[in-house]
Amino acid sequence: MIRPHGGKLVNRLATGEKAVELEAEAARLPAVPLDAFEMSDLEMLAIGAFSPLEGFMTGADFEAVVREKRLANGLPWTLPVTLAVSSDRAAMLSQGSRAALADGEGRRLGVLTIEDIFRWDRQEEARHIFKTTEAAHPGVQYVYSRGEVYLGGPIELFHRPSGRFSEYRLEPADTRRIFEERGWKTVVGFQTRNPVHRAHEYIQKTALETVDGLLLHPIAGETKSDDVSLEVRLRCYEALLENYYPKDRVVLALNPASMRYAGPREAIFHALVRKNFGCTHFIVGRDHAGVGGYYGPYDAQKIFEEFDAAELGITPLFFEHTFYCRACEGIASPKTCGHDKDSRIILSGTQVRNLLREGGQLPREFTRPEVAAILQQAFEPQEA
Ligand code: ADX
Repeated sequence: MIRPHGGKLVNRLATGEKAVELEAEAARLPAVPLDAFEMSDLEMLAIGAFSPLEGFMTGADFEAVVREKRLANGLPWTLPVTLAVSSDRAAMLSQGSRAALADGEGRRLGVLTIEDIFRWDRQEEARHIFKTTEAAHPGVQYVYSRGEVYLGGPIELFHRPSGRFSEYRLEPADTRRIFEERGWKTVVGFQTRNPVHRAHEYIQKTALETVDGLLLHPIAGETKSDDVSLEVRLRCYEALLENYYPKDRVVLALNPASMRYAGPREAIFHALVRKNFGCTHFIVGRDHAGVGGYYGPYDAQKIFEEFDAAELGITPLFFEHTFYCRACEGIASPKTCGHDKDSRIILSGTQVRNLLREGGQLPREFTRPEVAAILQQAFEPQEA
């Protein structure tokens, strides 16, 4: 079984006596409210999906990640994992003390040991992480919307946030156990935030031809407002698995993280997280975790050259832009198809959404009919 990033699978979920004690302590501590994005990071931290991180980043780790794409100890890590508060709230907290971590309803779930309280220039953060300072970028917009002060330090939870679709909420320890039980030595992970279409299916299956198993791992945290809901995306996957996949070769589970839309940096981050879930391989296709025109279509593949294969530990599998080709009568990419562009059926996410909003049919060359039916229904105008 592949080792987690940094060598040890983190677990910050307290149980039994310890959980009872923590809960009693949290009741007496000042509370720090977390937004939905921070809640998803908190869950990732607690279940070990962000191993070796044990909590929100301190200034030293944050600075190293932003500038060097590494933690302060040199381990590759490309995106900040931070907890932000207003200056007013920060003034009531002190380094070395503890605070209760509360969800949007004020329910206390865990405890933070405040190792560091720091500020950083938000524009500078955006420029490094997203390669733009434009607030039109959804990741940048989120960074600008947050409190001015970051709190860093280890966390411990006594309540795991209760998300929907619990049957798909597998922790890294669970997926690792399942892979082991199935005797899978090699597993490819697939990151996704969009409804599944045939190009996705093609790259998943092409990868699966060379490994033992496939982990379909859609994002379950925050996504931008025009992305399709998790419920609909999951129903699409259920329909696809039912009709087109061998059940004993695939695990469908949720990745509780939120989307950053940081393109290349997020591709490395996504790969490291899937390593923690037990994957040995990871698919990086065209414009992975991209948005608008902020990144080149293959920037998310090129960034892997900046790291030693051994220090990442998980093998990326790169795919070019895939599409349906009428002349080939199948899915292909510029690598495998020499026909001219007129033979290709290519639809952008925006085109798909517009077509569905107008009540149009998604072509079966683009989406399986069972999936198209679910999307069509989801986009039907609601009766007033
Ligand atoms: S992402 O934000 O999670 O990257 P999406 O769910 O659309 O968005 O993509 C999931 C994975 O499939 C990513 O690795 C992406 O690069 C890849 N991908 C999506 N569409 C294509 C395509 N037509 N050709 C090649 N790769 C693709």
